[in-house]
Amino acid sequence: MGKRKIYVVGNWKMHKTSRDAVDYIEKLLPHVKETENLICLAVPFTSIALASEKAEGTRIAIGAQNMHDATEGAFTGEIAGPMLKEAGASFVLLGHSERRHIFQETNEWIHRKVHRALQEGILPVLCIGETLEERLEGQTEEVLKKQLVTALEGVSESQAEHLIVAYEPVWAIGTGKAATPLIAEEVHLFCRSVLSELFGKKIGGGVSILYGGSVSPQNVAGFIKEKNIDGVLVGGASLNLATFVQLIELCKK
Ligand code: 13P
Repeated sequence: MGKRKIYVVGNWKMHKTSRDAVDYIEKLLPHVKETENLICLAVPFTSIALASEKAEGTRIAIGAQNMHDATEGAFTGEIAGPMLKEAGASFVLLGHSERRHIFQETNEWIHRKVHRALQEGILPVLCIGETLEERLEGQTEEVLKKQLVTALEGVSESQAEHLIVAYEPVWAIGTGKAATPLIAEEVHLFCRSVLSELFGKKIGGGVSILYGGSVSPQNVAGFIKEKNIDGVLVGGASLNLATFVQLIELCKK
């Protein structure tokens, strides 16, 4: 096995114009020339085209934060896979907790989105996570298993090779209260066992699983050193270029 690659993914959520994005990427490029790791930015739809142009042929991959499951249609305000692909998105976040909780996305809908992304050749980053209540009631594993199994039903082994999972406990997102590396590692190990059940040990066990939720330069090293944590999905701390560069540096190890 080669050296494990670490994903450092920024999720800008609803922040930054396309002009901001170009400026950010221009300044980020000199810092990622040497990196072995995979640097990804999930930017707003309006920034994808320009950001992709700027990042072409570099270490930075540009992706989207959501996608509809239809290829076109009467879905006012939505965006389809072929549109994202044309704009240059190579990956898409699906089932982010803000989509699940604010926009009522269900496991079944996310399942359709995962399939569409795979069909379009856009790498899905399937986001899963339990709420605080679910954790306190001891339902974490049950909730995560349902999210994984429903979203990934019907995904073939070869498709599972083009898939990333991101564990983002809802209680850790934007709260400054990250999970401890130990809690995250425990959950990642569980997710890996579910993925192995679904796709076999070799492929399921090989799916990259990222941690997200209040990741910062202060705590990132603790996550990265865990065996089953293959990278981080960063919200707030990715908005500031200097902080994101610091995170990239700390993930080099
Ligand atoms: P924060 O890093 O701001 O907690 O956000 C995490 C997140 O939702 C990334 O997708």
